Amino acid sequence: MTTAATPVSDVDIFADDVLTDPYAAYAVLRETGAAVYLERYDCWALPRYEHVRAALRDHERFSSVDSVGYEPSLNERRRGGVLATDPPEHEVLRAVLSESLAPRALAGLRDGIARRATELVESVVARGSFDVVSDLARVFPLTVVADLIGMPLRARDEVLVFADAFFNTFGPLNERTTASVQVSDRLLEELISMMNRDNLVPGGWGEALYQAADRGVIEEHQVGRLLRAYLVASMDTTINAISSALWLFAEHPAAWTALRSDRTLLRSAFEEVVRFESPVQVFFRRTTRPVEIDGVTIPPQAQVAMLFGSANRDPRKWPEPDTFDVGRAPMDHVGFGSGVHACAGQGLARVEGNAILSALLDHVEAIHLAGPPRRHLNNVIRGLESLPVTVTTGALS
Ligand code: HEM
Repeated sequence: MTTAATPVSDVDIFADDVLTDPYAAYAVLRETGAAVYLERYDCWALPRYEHVRAALRDHERFSSVDSVGYEPSLNERRRGGVLATDPPEHEVLRAVLSESLAPRALAGLRDGIARRATELVESVVARGSFDVVSDLARVFPLTVVADLIGMPLRARDEVLVFADAFFNTFGPLNERTTASVQVSDRLLEELISMMNRDNLVPGGWGEALYQAADRGVIEEHQVGRLLRAYLVASMDTTINAISSALWLFAEHPAAWTALRSDRTLLRSAFEEVVRFESPVQVFFRRTTRPVEIDGVTIPPQAQVAMLFGSANRDPRKWPEPDTFDVGRAPMDHVGFGSGVHACAGQGLARVEGNAILSALLDHVEAIHLAGPPRRHLNNVIRGLESLPVTVTTGALS
């Protein structure tokens, strides 16, 4: 229930024009209030950094059960997955994933990932012109993660179509979602059956999940859900971080030059990309009781949009938030979430992003747009369909 004092907006956060360029709409929402009722969707939105971060760290009042996406019937299908559970159930699933994604596990992977990044970058750079999305960004995380899972080769072609469709199903029942539901159901079934115990390459993350089931840590039926978590969470997120990075460096040549002369900026530059063009723009939560934010009461059982992309552009938190600044070091952005569901794969995403950028810094003096970038619209993911570039080569002196 809303009152005359409730901040209300008719902004449609899932409309094509808002997905294409959401930042003006986010600014309006941030000015409207700390908690805004979205009348089109009969749900609430948190647009400011402080409240998004606090809500993400408050799973007792902002639950993920049956609520990470907007649409109730689609949330039911995600029931029991790592994203869609609260503690204590969540802790068990998260611990199993963390065995493969923890810093200790990643330390042994770093050199191999760097070598692969160098090979891929050298091959595209040798061509002079290439499409960042199809030739680089979509190739790299897919091959890295598929190998880490131990995924059979024939399963790999469909993973990206599946992940994009699955992310659309976190939105309302708009055209994007309805076109995606069947695709994502069909491909998920195919992929999980292709990744049964006998087909997985030994020693990978997939086998480790079956072993966790053998030890009784998780139930056998939870293996598929965790495989799904790996497949979905690790693809379009990292792909779009890499694509957006190259787009931003093409648009900001001085930032690229600064990185070439001071590699220590690389780590914070990747975080600035994730802050500035957050690959995950929104996920939802559900209030378990009335929650008061800045004098406004959100009722119990309300769907609440966590606007990661808006929080990361909030001027209350970030000076000149709409400026891409590789010296900013925005380590506390919420592009990887926060709290118990904070991205389990953020270490891997950083290793992948840094490996690609590092290999490019070794070889490329400047990145030039060779045509207009094309956006890929997804209900919750911000990214590109195509980014044609030419590169000027030059080794570091
Ligand atoms: C730049 C790349 C990435 C971004 C921006 C990103 C973003 C996010 C965000 C915002 C969440 C929080 C969801 C929530 O609060 O409900 C999340 C969760 C998650 N991410 Fe990532 N992610 C990235 C890469 C990866 C990679 C490479 C993996 C590897 C498998 C991964 C695995 C996961 C998993 C398993 C979760 C669920 C954690 C949980 O519910 O406890 N992510 N990610």
